[in-house]
Amino acid sequence: LFGFNTNKVSGYFEPIEPSKEDKLLLPKGYKYDVVAAFDDVINAAGEKFGQGADYNAFFPINGSNTRGLLATNHEYTNIFALGPIANGKLTKEQMEKDLYYQGMSVIEVYQDENGVWKMDTSSKYARRITGFTKFEMTGPARGIAALNNATTVQGTWGNCSGGVTFWNTVLSCEENVSDTADAAGLPQTHYGWVIEVDPFDGSFLKKHTALGRFNHENTAMGLASDGRIVVYMGDDKKDACIYKFVSKHKYNKDLGRGNSALLTEGTLYVANLKSGKWIPVTYEAVSKALSNEKFKAPAGVSGKREDLQKKFQSQGDVVTYCHEAALILGGMPTDRPEDIEISPFDNTVFICHTNNDSHGNIHGHITRIFEKDNDLGALEFDFEIFAAGGRQSGFSSPDNLAFDSNGNLWVVTDMSSSSTNKGVFTSFMNNGLHVIPTSGPNKAMAMQFASGPNDCELTGPFFTPDEKTLFLSVQHPGELTTDLSKPTSLWPHRKGDTKARCGVVAISGFKLG
Ligand code: FEO
Ligand code: CA
Ligand code: CA
Ligand code: CA
Repeated sequence: LFGFNTNKVSGYFEPIEPSKEDKLLLPKGYKYDVVAAFDDVINAAGEKFGQGADYNAFFPINGSNTRGLLATNHEYTNIFALGPIANGKLTKEQMEKDLYYQGMSVIEVYQDENGVWKMDTSSKYARRITGFTKFEMTGPARGIAALNNATTVQGTWGNCSGGVTFWNTVLSCEENVSDTADAAGLPQTHYGWVIEVDPFDGSFLKKHTALGRFNHENTAMGLASDGRIVVYMGDDKKDACIYKFVSKHKYNKDLGRGNSALLTEGTLYVANLKSGKWIPVTYEAVSKALSNEKFKAPAGVSGKREDLQKKFQSQGDVVTYCHEAALILGGMPTDRPEDIEISPFDNTVFICHTNNDSHGNIHGHITRIFEKDNDLGALEFDFEIFAAGGRQSGFSSPDNLAFDSNGNLWVVTDMSSSSTNKGVFTSFMNNGLHVIPTSGPNKAMAMQFASGPNDCELTGPFFTPDEKTLFLSVQHPGELTTDLSKPTSLWPHRKGDTKARCGVVAISGFKLG
């Protein structure tokens, strides 16, 4: 038995074995309820739950642990939403579905008197945010020429992971956005940002350009010692960088949602893991680097010096072409940085590097950053490889992270469906959820808590404040399906269903100590 104790909950579970079953498996004594699945009606207006369920954030209603709003990201669509795609090109109808089923859902969820979690479709808050929803741009790229002077833009998609703010809103990260932008004929530069949504107010919809444009995975918000806001972010691409944004002004609790303005002005930094320095990604620095006649573009940056000088003419251009700017300034390429979380105990920062087969990092690893003087606003840091994926640690390809209040990391894995259950991935079987203590005798060892159905990845683990319920998404079950009459998964195995449906489950069984 693996015991875990938290401030609020103590419990134990018997780690499960890896599995190839088309089921969501949990340890003895735990159960799950499907609260929403792809295409379920979520409100009186008849809006539908999107596809590719990813990040979840639970917002209590009146402080309740058993009723609240759940904001869920929808990362991408597949054959179960669009049907087969002829000649690799979406029809108009498919393109509209692609835009509709991505984005976010805000749903109201509650636990009934029998302990079963359900969706309340009569909710006045429940709504969809889609590829058609209008967003206001904030920050340095608002209205610039590279964005066609746009101050508002159409839609959000590629919504992968995210994070909550200190002022009760949710940040959602646009990750792989290119294909949808191309299919819809919309400008690439309007996507790849961090958006902010207020679950309780449908009119509050922002894209914060100060946080940069890249393949955003998630956000982890913390406070610098002097009270400024710090937001850590990964760029989930092979050979891409780790960033942190530090606000210009300080957090003021009394301002409530007014603190959102902190995300419009500040400094974006990129990590150099060799020097242990956070490098400011600014127009001044980029233009200085490019003014040197001996400038040589680093790997990953293309174009002549003169072309780059034309490309970078303002801070707006720097945040828009953030990855190139970061590389020019010495940001270190890393192995697909995905979720980042800040330890609630010691302000160390955990980063999942999912994998990178271009240079042999097949199982990935989790990096732990130690900011100088434990100050999240520091400009220097040290780091260690906290855990390496592979046989000895018991997990491969770590992706999303969540901390419980005892400092255990809850880690989901993202071995690609095409490689799962083959070759060096064989012993891990289907993607799962693991618990990894960050201290004690089991430090850095993974205990498997859940195994997902076929071709899925588990995403978006998020606890209720009392840690008696864990929300978790089951993303892309059955995604290897090419013939709709032969789905490779039928999860969640509802009566009469003929397709696999991604969805969100509420896991309960955590025992009060
Ligand atoms: Fe959408 Fe980086 O996973
Ligand atoms: Ca992810
Ligand atoms: Ca991933
Ligand atoms: Ca994925």
